[in-house]
Amino acid sequence: MNILAIESSCDETAAAVLTDGQTIVSNVVASSHDMHEKYGGIVPEVAARIQLESIIPVITEALSPLRKSSEHIHDTIRREIDAVAVTIGPGLIGSLLVGVETAKTIAVLTGKPIIPVNHVLAHMYANFVDPVVANDSKATPTGLLRPENFGIRDDMFPAISLVVSGGHTELYLMKDKRDLTWLGGTIDDAAGECFDKTARLLGFGHGGGLAIQQAASRMKSKGNIRLPRPMLNKENAMNFSFSGLKTAILREVNKLKESHEYSEETIHQLSHEVQETITDVLVKKTVAAADRYGARSVLLSGGVSANTRLRKKFEGAVGNDYALRYPPVELCTDNAVYIGAYAYFRGVKKDWKSINAYPDLPVEVSS
Ligand code: KG4
Ligand code: ZN
Repeated sequence: MNILAIESSCDETAAAVLTDGQTIVSNVVASSHDMHEKYGGIVPEVAARIQLESIIPVITEALSPLRKSSEHIHDTIRREIDAVAVTIGPGLIGSLLVGVETAKTIAVLTGKPIIPVNHVLAHMYANFVDPVVANDSKATPTGLLRPENFGIRDDMFPAISLVVSGGHTELYLMKDKRDLTWLGGTIDDAAGECFDKTARLLGFGHGGGLAIQQAASRMKSKGNIRLPRPMLNKENAMNFSFSGLKTAILREVNKLKESHEYSEETIHQLSHEVQETITDVLVKKTVAAADRYGARSVLLSGGVSANTRLRKKFEGAVGNDYALRYPPVELCTDNAVYIGAYAYFRGVKKDWKSINAYPDLPVEVSS
């Protein structure tokens, strides 16, 4: 079964074709990141306008491996595609509408069904895809991710799944490939948001978590900056909170500035401590959830799961107790591949008339 998947919930415009939810035929991502750098952040109106301009070229490129020369693109879709999957939320309304209305137009013109997809839940299904990048060094940062360690087997359930992205930090119990129960999430900022705000505060612009990871790796000596690890107590076992951490980081920056110790090295030390704090909390809570629910595996996904320190800490923490899965870096951040994977494993085919965009689509599912 071939699925054409479309993703436009934030500032990326992405399309992919997936066979049987696992094999990537194509994966095209266009980002308006440079434009947002210029405007000092994501301006929803700007994002949606760029997405409107890029969606047709992106979809056309995603279909190109299946297209016969000089063939009309709708004929390629009619012949090769079984369903169109599209992100319907959560996300920015203008951005979501670009993908949703384009998917509906394709459905009307070709008679194909639409599979509506929840972006946050879909992130987890990046783990279900055969990585075409198994030999890519970025995909194997610790050398532990051998090809046989990719993909999901039936004996890996129940699994505890952590989705950790720019807007979400959520824990799920996955009883099988379809059955998801939300266990908890952040009560304020997401982990990615904390990385992003810290990056801005430390002068890394919109470099986000990757800039913090790189700065942390340049630290020469550990220094003595210590930040609190929020919500590691039992009562809040399944929830996260990162907004207090943001305040604590600002306090440290001010302290360093007042004592004239704010330098490249202390910025690197602070970056290191921020990364240690966020990753400590994510690892401890996720492993605690795995213990509590008798899980057989731990699955990571979302943009923050690209963090090499987080991956390394998880590898150490799960040891031989649980199987561990995380997607290759390019499938952690936003793309349409996992939209197609989710649609295959958990989606329901619908008629285009019943499809709408929902900016606040809930992620607290059970079953
Ligand atoms: O999943 P994603 O691409 O978009 C959302 O759905 O939000 O996640 C983006 C988030 C940003 O907060 C970004 O700073 C973070 O992922 N991120 C990282 C790294 N790469 C991306 N955070 C920590 N370390 C990284 N290497
Ligand atoms: Zn995302």
